[in-house]
Amino acid sequence: MTSSSSGNYQSGFGNEFATEALAGALPEGRNSPQRAAYGLYAEQISGTAFTAPRHANRRSWLYRIRPAAMHRPFEPLAHATWHNRFDEAPATPNQLRWDPLPLPAAPTDFIDGLLTVAGNGGPAAQAGIGIYLYAANRSMQGRFLYSADGEFLIVPEHGRLRIATELGLIEVEPQQVALIPRGIRFRVELPDGAARGYVAENFGASLRLPDLGPIGSNGLANPRDFQAPVAAYEDVEGDFELIAKFQGSLWRASIGHSPLDVVAWHGNHVPYRYDLRRFNTIGSISYDHPDPSIFTVLTSPSDTPGTANLDFVIFPPRWLCAEDTFRPPWFHRNIASEFMGLVHGAYDAKAGGFVPGGSSLHNCMSGHGPDAASFEKASAADTSKPDHVVDTMAFMFETRAVIRPTRQALESPLLQRDYYACWQGLRKHFDAARR
Ligand SMILES: [Fe+2]
Repeated sequence: MTSSSSGNYQSGFGNEFATEALAGALPEGRNSPQRAAYGLYAEQISGTAFTAPRHANRRSWLYRIRPAAMHRPFEPLAHATWHNRFDEAPATPNQLRWDPLPLPAAPTDFIDGLLTVAGNGGPAAQAGIGIYLYAANRSMQGRFLYSADGEFLIVPEHGRLRIATELGLIEVEPQQVALIPRGIRFRVELPDGAARGYVAENFGASLRLPDLGPIGSNGLANPRDFQAPVAAYEDVEGDFELIAKFQGSLWRASIGHSPLDVVAWHGNHVPYRYDLRRFNTIGSISYDHPDPSIFTVLTSPSDTPGTANLDFVIFPPRWLCAEDTFRPPWFHRNIASEFMGLVHGAYDAKAGGFVPGGSSLHNCMSGHGPDAASFEKASAADTSKPDHVVDTMAFMFETRAVIRPTRQALESPLLQRDYYACWQGLRKHFDAARR
């Protein structure tokens, strides 16, 4: 087996990257020479329509030992908990919250450990997202995964992931995220043994950095902090399994070699990682606080301007200094639907019950906000002094379409059936005789 993995990264978001694990493997001045160096095959992967506007166009050229076409036929592969059946249970306006998935006792790899919590749209429409949790305790061995349905935004909460992809190696730990583009083949290894986290599979337009408007040319997630891998290949033969996610179902094919055999590549349809602790968090320095769109890391636009198929939003450590202001997130109802997770520490709008690895869902126009204890505390706080919110990292998958929980999520013992009670203690303060 020959392998090249320096652990190096290339910096920037959406760049036209170029990398080779063997000197001279990348052709110069053309993409498809008559004979590629080292006897490699040239192959293009397109992540957008050929004719997508230049700023949105994603494709990469791969120079590999064997073409992606080379495998035995696919057959259906059953999976008990990972699917895209988002209409099997009634969508509910109830506020929902779940305890974390337990770590598995039996040997479970990343694929086996995936469970669909909720979603909307689907791969056929190329709109919407799938929301999955994973809990695993062993590396994928001799098998490789790709999804034709969407890109994977992986948000680890417990344990590091070492993700070997066709385009190179990405390592992430909790408070970092990884993005695997549509179609790219990969293997997830678990250097810490156990791992747990969240995945959004984005069936819509590729995630990109949000426009900054009056914020200016810097701020929020800065492009240079996104890291794409350098080329690293495996030249190894054996009895392996290639697993495809295709139209919401899994398929398996025998493959006689590692598909991670790309010796050189260039392009912008690439996996990447980002450290959420690098986020430049922007907020009010006078009164009130902005809408949570100010915390958007990445956005997948829909066909309606300003209305996202998916926004990936985080609630990182930050200073709160707005005067005469209720500083936690205010009470609200939104047309958008919000799935939240917690990857580190505690979340400032809830006194308890929302723990790392847990999840919550607040759907279109379902009222929510701080619980009673958080409201009382914030209402009595001294706002002449700043608060430093530390030791926290919550996130939100926010979508324009209602997020439909799966039957297994609604019937799960992890569902907190008393979640509504956190707002029942909100006291009536109204007194018409007192301003
Ligand atoms: Fe909300």
